[in-house]
Amino acid sequence: MQKPIVIVGSINLDLVVAADRIPQVGETIIGNTFNTFYGGKGANQAVAAAKLGYPVSMVGNVGSDPFGTQLRNGLKDAGVDTAYVNTVEGPSGVALITTGSGGENSIVVVPGANGCLTPKLLEKAETILERAGFLLAQLEIPLETVEYLAQFAERHDIPLMLDPAPARELPRALLRRLTWITPNETETQELLRIKLENGDQGSCEAAEHLLDCGVKNVLLKLGSRGCLIAERNSAKERIPAFSVDAVDTTAAGDAFNAGFAVGLMRGSTVTRSAVFASAVAAISVTRPGAQPSMPTGYEVECFLKERL
Ligand code: ATP
Ligand code: RIB
Repeated sequence: MQKPIVIVGSINLDLVVAADRIPQVGETIIGNTFNTFYGGKGANQAVAAAKLGYPVSMVGNVGSDPFGTQLRNGLKDAGVDTAYVNTVEGPSGVALITTGSGGENSIVVVPGANGCLTPKLLEKAETILERAGFLLAQLEIPLETVEYLAQFAERHDIPLMLDPAPARELPRALLRRLTWITPNETETQELLRIKLENGDQGSCEAAEHLLDCGVKNVLLKLGSRGCLIAERNSAKERIPAFSVDAVDTTAAGDAFNAGFAVGLMRGSTVTRSAVFASAVAAISVTRPGAQPSMPTGYEVECFLKERL
């Protein structure tokens, strides 16, 4: 039987304005459309993996407001096991998102219930955490919970992939427990407190730096430039992104992480998993919204047949 991917992370309602561009500080502009979508980095990764046909359990919190029920049902409808999604008193997490015409975005997240995902709640989810074949986390929940999860993963010898988003500095003890870290360019700069030099050499140096911090494997997400794989004692490898017309890059990183995890869990090599992940992410950027933009396994298969 396939061991599930277990995702410990955030569940948000995304309030999304599509405008021609993202306004500057102090500026008011007229937007084009307003939509609400199911989002949250954790939930996006869960839905993406489930739509690819892999068994996924979500460990997270929704609020006691009406959004909470909708968000939980959204996960269920996508095929995610929600037995360990708690309802906590107070508001659900929300994200205020503005997208520009090139697909770029800016996001403010108010954690709400996600901020109450304590290590104590993870203790209650131990049965599912122990069964995991792969644990995935991000940083929209309290850091102490991610640290608890990393200790748990180490104790039970379960691989853990951390998407260090939103960006922040992280303790070395946490970095040393990670099997994979998957920062984008801004997160890499924040993690290392460096200015990332443009081009492959800068990315390779940054990845090396992260390996020096004790992370076992690094995958840098480089937007439309693709990604860079850096495994300890192996040559670094850059995988280009697929060329598509991007309309909304929100959750591209989440689509990528889910695709990568599913690829690895199905026994693909790291390189093939990264190509698969790039296809999942490329399709997602051609569609608006976070969770609604995630492709099915069949869509990815057709896309890859056409492109490779
Ligand atoms: P987000 O925060 O928007 O979810 P991210 O910043 O974590 O995403 P990115 O590096 O922007 O991550 O994107 C992740 C992956 O998605 C890239 O490595 C690439 O494969 C794919 N991707 C992103 N943008 C594009 C694009 N414009 N065209 C094709 N693929 C893209
Ligand atoms: O990664 C994209 C996600 O970031 C959005 O869905 C939003 O909820 C924020 O968490």
